[in-house]
Amino acid sequence: MKLSKVKKLKGVIYPPGDKSISHRVALISALSTGENLIENFLIADDTLSTLNCLKNLGVEIELSDKLRIKGKGLKGLKKPGSVLNAGNSGTTIRLLSGILAGQNFDSEITGDDSLRRRPMMRIVKPLRMMGAKIEASVDGTPPLKIFGVEKLNPIEYELEIPSAQVKSCLIFAGLYTDGKTKIIEKIPTRDHTERLLGLKTYLEDSKKIIEVDGGQKIEAKNYFVPNDISSSAFFIVAGSIIPESTLVIKNVGLNPTRTGFIDVLKRMGANIEVENLREIANELVGDVIVRSGKDIELKNLTLSGDIIPNIIDEIPILAVAGAVAHGKFEVRDAVDLRNKESDRIKAIVVNLRKMGIDVEEYEDGFAFEGVKKLKGALIETFNDHRIAMAFSIAGLIADGETIIDNPNCVTISFPGFYDVLKNLQN
Ligand code: S3P
Repeated sequence: MKLSKVKKLKGVIYPPGDKSISHRVALISALSTGENLIENFLIADDTLSTLNCLKNLGVEIELSDKLRIKGKGLKGLKKPGSVLNAGNSGTTIRLLSGILAGQNFDSEITGDDSLRRRPMMRIVKPLRMMGAKIEASVDGTPPLKIFGVEKLNPIEYELEIPSAQVKSCLIFAGLYTDGKTKIIEKIPTRDHTERLLGLKTYLEDSKKIIEVDGGQKIEAKNYFVPNDISSSAFFIVAGSIIPESTLVIKNVGLNPTRTGFIDVLKRMGANIEVENLREIANELVGDVIVRSGKDIELKNLTLSGDIIPNIIDEIPILAVAGAVAHGKFEVRDAVDLRNKESDRIKAIVVNLRKMGIDVEEYEDGFAFEGVKKLKGALIETFNDHRIAMAFSIAGLIADGETIIDNPNCVTISFPGFYDVLKNLQN
């Protein structure tokens, strides 16, 4: 994929359905007792991995204009005929493992080269405390072997690292106990699972407690998945750093545990408005309008501490915004970025350097001074969808040509990304 400087971007965008919510809706539907109809489910490689695993567990799934999932109830899954394949998807392996840990049959789950490098002890350790019989490979990575048990034990567990995947894994495992599981979060993370299941949550000593009653019946429902705010982020930044742009991004999920990057961009001076704000199925949804003037004058800042989990998936594209803003852009306390689909600290540092930025790398982040002009470069995506999309946007403001080494990796979360981008340039 070749990209070069554009004059402006204009248009209306309908990004695909939210990835985090789509995974969760599929898993919850599979455990329900009846037929679920899901509107705007994300059809992309990651969510197809979840659907394929569920099919392998005996769940009937049919896709026409909506997704139809026939729930099996908590105890109705069947032993898979083969090793479950989560592909590139951390959400699939971590959330599904919470369900598999409570089954009375053995299973094994693995994934692609990237997933087989990612840390799993963060779920293995608390699942074992619940009585799960689960083994990772020696270095704590997939494949995970999960052995059948009659039931799990409820626990009280404070998350050691802020992670919605770990939290959600334990919520699912909590359904397979005969008591109350309490999960304690010091730093909030995306809360879609507790919203979808309607769980009781409250604050205690400024920590969030999530309670899960074991054995609860999950009713079948009709779901609507809002458009993905993390996919929208590439366009929200593009509209903020490409002069004389106006972009309207429709029906975006605006859950406050996901909107931190919009606050960051506004603090940097971007002109972003939300219209048509409404609540659909317990999630905030709205249209995001981003406009830029003739001269872009964004100011840089430091991102660290409790905001990091809220903006974790948007750090690559925020770094692109920082690259052309005034002053020092710094990210700290983000060591878990090294454990994503790629080592995202390395991927950001390597590619910003290629585009002419003098970047300092830290174990938990990076820092640099913004520049007036980026240089076009050959971008290494490390097969990571968010790196490909972030640096494609950088290519639209750089001098000269930018080439993305493996643009196809965007199919993980946003198969139509390059078509949408092209339509905004006309
Ligand atoms: C996700 C949670 C985050 C995020 C990932 C999706 C989820 O991961 O980076 O892309 O759907 O729960 P962690 O929970 O590991 O931080």
